[in-house]
Amino acid sequence: MFTDADAAALYDLLNPWDPIRCPSDAFYDELVMAAEAVLDVGCGTGSMLHQARELGHRGRLAGLDPDLAALDRARRRSDIEWVAGVAADMTWDREFDLAIMASNAFQCFIGDEELSKSLTAIRRALRDGERFVFETRNPQARAWEEWNPSNATEVVDGNGRRLRVSHHVEAVVADVVTFTETTSGHDGTVLRVDRASLRFLDVPKLGAFLGEAGFEIEAQYGDWHHEPVSDASRSIVTIARRV
Ligand SMILES: C[S@@+](CC[C@H](N)C(=O)[O-])C[C@H]1O[C@@H](n2cnc3c(N)ncnc32)[C@H](O)[C@@H]1O
Repeated sequence: MFTDADAAALYDLLNPWDPIRCPSDAFYDELVMAAEAVLDVGCGTGSMLHQARELGHRGRLAGLDPDLAALDRARRRSDIEWVAGVAADMTWDREFDLAIMASNAFQCFIGDEELSKSLTAIRRALRDGERFVFETRNPQARAWEEWNPSNATEVVDGNGRRLRVSHHVEAVVADVVTFTETTSGHDGTVLRVDRASLRFLDVPKLGAFLGEAGFEIEAQYGDWHHEPVSDASRSIVTIARRV
């Protein structure tokens, strides 16, 4: 048995929020701590907002995610608003001065309509002139070419189980990559297979979607140290402002 709750716990084990070791986490922490009201879209297990409270954030913090098992872990802190749902259905109106999508959550928006509706809802949630910050993997860097079983990760989970997590790309259609994540026991028994699709937007397409939704791009970086985006950049980090 490998439940949704086990999968959410494994996510935290493999992706701990760690601003010392992970420059993206430090980048987001600084923004969150400087904002009064923060919305984390695709908050997952809630680690970014947990960290904000632990660092002393006293303002409003809200996280939204459709994954109920992940939200259950997020709810271990009750001094944060946790909402089950997708970005496109959000109804907040001018309530936040920062919205974030961390850890490439933005790439979960696949279709044009879902992407546009999600951006419209994020913009609506922000007060006039405030910012939406997120990163996406740069399609030029073709990260999916590394998602194969030879790059599997081995880990011991919270129940002492030795696990192996591997990826396999099933299809690359236009800018959408569909892949599986397989979790196996140490004897090779397959415990769970999750299938997901991620969209890899390039800089011009990102700019077009943001512009149509009523954002202007204030800054765009190719890494967490404010270097410009180039073909070699693994990430596109975007700071967009509601106009
Ligand atoms: C890679 S995880 C990132 C989680 C978290 N932001 C972090 O930094 O650990 C992507 C998250 O986006 C969520 N997600 C997927 N589709 C979404 C949607 N349409 N609206 C909001 N969140 C979504 C997933 O459930 C998942 O928790």
